[in-house]
Amino acid sequence: MRTREALLPDAEQVHALIAAYSGDGTLLPRSLAEICENVRDFVVLEHEGRIIGCGALHLYGPHLAEIRSITVDPTHQSSGGGRRLVKALLAQAEKHRVTCVCLFTRIPEFFARLGFTIASHQDLPDKIHKDCYKCPRLHYCDEVAMIRGNLPRFAILPAPATWLKIQA
Ligand SMILES: CC(C)(COP(=O)(O)OP(=O)(O)OC[C@H]1O[C@@H](n2cnc3c(N)ncnc32)[C@H](O)[C@@H]1OP(=O)(O)O)[C@@H](O)C(=O)NCCC(=O)NCCS
Repeated sequence: MRTREALLPDAEQVHALIAAYSGDGTLLPRSLAEICENVRDFVVLEHEGRIIGCGALHLYGPHLAEIRSITVDPTHQSSGGGRRLVKALLAQAEKHRVTCVCLFTRIPEFFARLGFTIASHQDLPDKIHKDCYKCPRLHYCDEVAMIRGNLPRFAILPAPATWLKIQA
């Protein structure tokens, strides 16, 4: 089992891996076009020539990156693949000298084992602006925000005024 940077020919398999967990809301849906466009964000997990997992690192800026779309094929879970993917994505963040990596999750225990701590949603306006504002669960989000590194003190994408009003 090893991780490597994704290439365009991997996009269809990455799409299938994510689709398997987006129907029930575990992962945000990603279209094939979106995966192709952002393929350089992705790391894949390979085993015996097959892609059995993937994850992406979205760069907001030097202050923040986000781990997204992380998944391992159910038949290969609990073998250390998820951990490898997170470590590979953290190494990418380090390469880019990003000072904080965030994620939103319903399994904080998994990420806590990898050094993430719980944060407040409002502390991550870049993420809010990118995804939450258009999410049907905006008003009843059940995901835990987590960070690893230094909480950003500024945002590149401003939080939508309506969202800030809701949170006040
Ligand atoms: C979450 C996921 C990527 C973990 O992958 P995995 O290959 O099974 O995880 P690993 O084998 O690397 O596990 C690493 C550690 O985390 C623990 N762990 C794994 N899944 C966990 C979970 N759901 N909750 C809490 N701890 C978990 C393991 O027990 C292991 O602990 P250890 O270090 O004490 O041995 C995988 O279960 C998955 O694809 N889930 C569905 C998609 C998903 O929920 N993605 C996350 C969205 S934020």
